Amino acid sequence: MPASLKTEFLGQSFENPFMNASGVHCMSKRELDELKNSGAGSYITKSSTTLSREGNPAPRYHSVPLGSINSMGLPNEGFDYYLDYVLQYQKENPENVPPFFSVAGMSLNENLELLKKIQDSEYRGITELNLSCPNVPGKPQVAYDFEITKEILTKAFEFFKKPLGVKLPPYFDFAHFDIMAKILNEYPLAYVNCINSIGNGLYIDIEREAVVIKPKDGFGGLGGEYVKPTALANVRAFYTRLNPSIRIIGTGGIRTGQDAFEHILCGATMLQVGTELYKEGASIFERLGKELKEIMEKKGYNSIEEFRGKLNNL
Ligand code: SIN
Repeated sequence: MPASLKTEFLGQSFENPFMNASGVHCMSKRELDELKNSGAGSYITKSSTTLSREGNPAPRYHSVPLGSINSMGLPNEGFDYYLDYVLQYQKENPENVPPFFSVAGMSLNENLELLKKIQDSEYRGITELNLSCPNVPGKPQVAYDFEITKEILTKAFEFFKKPLGVKLPPYFDFAHFDIMAKILNEYPLAYVNCINSIGNGLYIDIEREAVVIKPKDGFGGLGGEYVKPTALANVRAFYTRLNPSIRIIGTGGIRTGQDAFEHILCGATMLQVGTELYKEGASIFERLGKELKEIMEKKGYNSIEEFRGKLNNL
């Protein structure tokens, strides 16, 4: 029997677990439509703010042999543009699950205002609150501040009744996995997305003796092969600490079917692709699906659920 990539996520059925990572190939309606017509199981909008933003000065994204470094600074077309897109999608595809909707306010109040607008709208999909953008000068990554994270979630769940997930930055210490998991377990979260880029790396062009991106004197978020072990560790750490009702989306270093298999083995249900989608374009999803199926068939797995989370310890 051929292996099936069908994935159940929050009571919805998806053809496969693959999505774009918010930020890549999802800024314009044209790019979003390309994802809609790709082999991805679902897709997500660029994290939006209330008003449109230019983001940081270019060059602000650079592909490097082992991945990427970026400091985009949340360029986006503004909340209403993406709300309009997902509502239009719902109208045209009443049977389908609409795309995920990502928001990233610049302050606690802006995050709450954005969530209120979603709550009050006709949107019936899944919202991702991005608490982890490392690239806005002067704004630290929200989810490294445990108290603020708690405050946002407490206030958000006073009125937000639709499915809500959070995009987290990578954590690097068991103490931080424990603290964050304890906080997250207090809320009716639908999922956590591990991980955003590893913030504030520095890549150097030896010929020019210079950095490769302009914002923040070259400091930017790392993605791609560099980050896979950290991503897997975060998926595993939260999978083993969170209430089972909180699902995990695995993001970071997914370039091949094997990377996808490893994320699922650590406990991820859906998978997001950033750096490699940027490099390869929307056709990547067909390839990843084919490679993941080949691995499953070789190992004798018919479905993803047969191995999800079942990583062996020694
Ligand atoms: C950016 O726009 O700077 C990237 C978004 C993110 O890392 O959350």
